[in-house]
Amino acid sequence: MTDVIDRHEVERILADPAFRVPEADAATTRPADRFRARASRFVNGAAHDARRRRLEELLATLDSGALATAAAARTRAMAPAGADAVAVQVPVACLAAQLGFADADSTPDPVAVLADHYPAGGPSDAADAALVRLLTAAPPPGRGDRRDDAVLRVQLLVQAHVGTAALIMNALGHPAAADPDVPTAELLATVLRDAPPVRTTRRIAPDDHELVLHLGGPDREAPAGRPRIIAFGAGARACPAPGPALAIAVAVVDGLRAC
Ligand code: HEM
Repeated sequence: MTDVIDRHEVERILADPAFRVPEADAATTRPADRFRARASRFVNGAAHDARRRRLEELLATLDSGALATAAAARTRAMAPAGADAVAVQVPVACLAAQLGFADADSTPDPVAVLADHYPAGGPSDAADAALVRLLTAAPPPGRGDRRDDAVLRVQLLVQAHVGTAALIMNALGHPAAADPDVPTAELLATVLRDAPPVRTTRRIAPDDHELVLHLGGPDREAPAGRPRIIAFGAGARACPAPGPALAIAVAVVDGLRAC
């Protein structure tokens, strides 16, 4: 395993389809591991491209303005529980509500359990139970839905969980958060550049060597002397949801800075 830390090099590798993601075990029978194999994140080639297209269609149904309004209201209601609780609960609950999940406020707990299992997989009764809860809460298939839409909707919640919560907490912990003259959108851009919420990702090189790619390392070819922002990845597998992620994060951080 080799670490790649320079952002220019990381971006180049992320944009090169010859570097693949480590694949989930498609033969597994454990529910949470089957989930990894049916999501877009741990498959390559045509299977990834088809699932990615469908994820983008599902994301296109989201309304970022309504997400921000809902996130602001939920943040006001939950603020007494503390920033950690708000960061973990509010983004997932807002997305779950718009994606049609039943009882959206009960989804963040199982999503956190499944998100913990998601990067590496492996046998886990807790992750299996969390997946079953989420698939039960997912909307029933409607006209035009595909067979794996429930899986992809759950994937969206799982992917949203870690990145959005970490962005919110990193922003609140930044010294500029205490300065009322720094707009929240600017604060978040600084954090995405200097303290990316998702710190690393992995790829398999064409020679089968595994690489750990750092999203917050130095940038030897920094444009205008500032490291490029690759917090949302790059290339065909880059995060498809920076819009919803930022709409929610701005509303939550604004609300918590005002407390
Ligand atoms: C600040 C919050 C977020 C950050 C920093 C973030 C970051 C990332 C990164 C770096 C990747 C690419 C991983 C790789 O190339 O190996 C990724 C993928 C992904 N993200 Fe995000 N993400 C965030 C929020 C979200 C949200 C809110 C959603 C859903 C609503 C989401 C959905 C996804 C999905 C579905 C993928 C996989 C794409 C694919 O397989 O092609 N992310 N994210």
